[in-house]
Amino acid sequence: MASAEEDSDRLLSDYTNGFMVSQVLFAACELGVFDLLAEAPGPLSSAAVAAGLGTSPEGTELLLDTCVSLKLLRVDTGGGRALYGSSELSRRYLARSSPTSQHHILLYLAKTTYLCWGHLAQAVRDGKNQYVRAFGVPSEEVFAAIYRSDEERLLFMRGMQDVWRVHGRHVMAAFDLSPFPLVCDLGGCSGALARECVSLYPGCHVTVFDIPEVVQTARKYFPILEEARVSFCEGDFFKDPLPEADLYVLARILHDWSPEKCAQLLARVHRACRPGGGLLVIESLLDADGRGPVTTQLFSLNMLVQTEGRERTPAQYRALLAAAGFRDVQCRRTGGPYDAVLARK
Ligand SMILES: C[S@@+](CC[C@H](N)C(=O)[O-])C[C@H]1O[C@@H](n2cnc3c(N)ncnc32)[C@H](O)[C@@H]1O
Repeated sequence: MASAEEDSDRLLSDYTNGFMVSQVLFAACELGVFDLLAEAPGPLSSAAVAAGLGTSPEGTELLLDTCVSLKLLRVDTGGGRALYGSSELSRRYLARSSPTSQHHILLYLAKTTYLCWGHLAQAVRDGKNQYVRAFGVPSEEVFAAIYRSDEERLLFMRGMQDVWRVHGRHVMAAFDLSPFPLVCDLGGCSGALARECVSLYPGCHVTVFDIPEVVQTARKYFPILEEARVSFCEGDFFKDPLPEADLYVLARILHDWSPEKCAQLLARVHRACRPGGGLLVIESLLDADGRGPVTTQLFSLNMLVQTEGRERTPAQYRALLAAAGFRDVQCRRTGGPYDAVLARK
């Protein structure tokens, strides 16, 4: 049995090297390792992978063998040579062709989030996001920083969509939403959750409300949606009239904003909501004491380095919702990274 000292050594080593593990995943994703192996007719040697990717033979072999140890790939060494292939995990989550691919969110984490986390200590000192240090862009307006180029906006939207490809069904099924035929997803981005909503609830129509550049990008790159009882509406949810709906959805919105901005937005949603109408908040819920789950605590630090907000406990959401006039607040944990809170006007 491992001694307490050995346990501590191992834990420290795992934490110290954790960023290297992420980088192996990110680099293999960026280089197209998982796509090449998923599309190949059979397992490939590292030389064949290097030739296919245009990468160095030495670097490729090191990367492939590390991916094998991390269970991101598998290797067959029978017959005296190593042949690499996809693992269950890479086939399901890392190959771009998979319907549950996480490719774009991993690229976003690698190219944007990771650079902000490089300034975590400063974010803790300042109490604010780190776009100025990471990218030289002013942080006053969070989404101007997030959408600092067309490419960044598209990658962010694709990344947001990837998460709902895996978890969207669970959050939309956490409550029975069939009593709400007309749904408005505020800050609904590419419409990924709207798609889950209409597929789960055949009678419903979803209006995806987002800022004009996002709606235009969604129309251009995610066009299939408008045929599927999903429509788009351009606007600013802090200023413009909100579309009519039986149910408003705020998914991963409140965690972007300060308590003051949350209060402002929730008051607007409450005014727009008809009596008996609902509001579904989808967020990662902290434990009651705020000291777990660790994934949500990490998300909360991520909000510190990238936004003006934080993750919150059920009691904090209840307080924000009650202050805006909502009642009958119910919180449901899904067992996944995101949870659901349903409130009524
Ligand atoms: C963190 S993303 C969440 C997207 C989506 N709800 C999801 O869960 O994937 C925040 C969204 O809010 C949108 N947003 C930010 N400020 C907004 C505003 N003032 N009015 C409307 N939408 C806004 C962003 O464009 C983005 O789509």
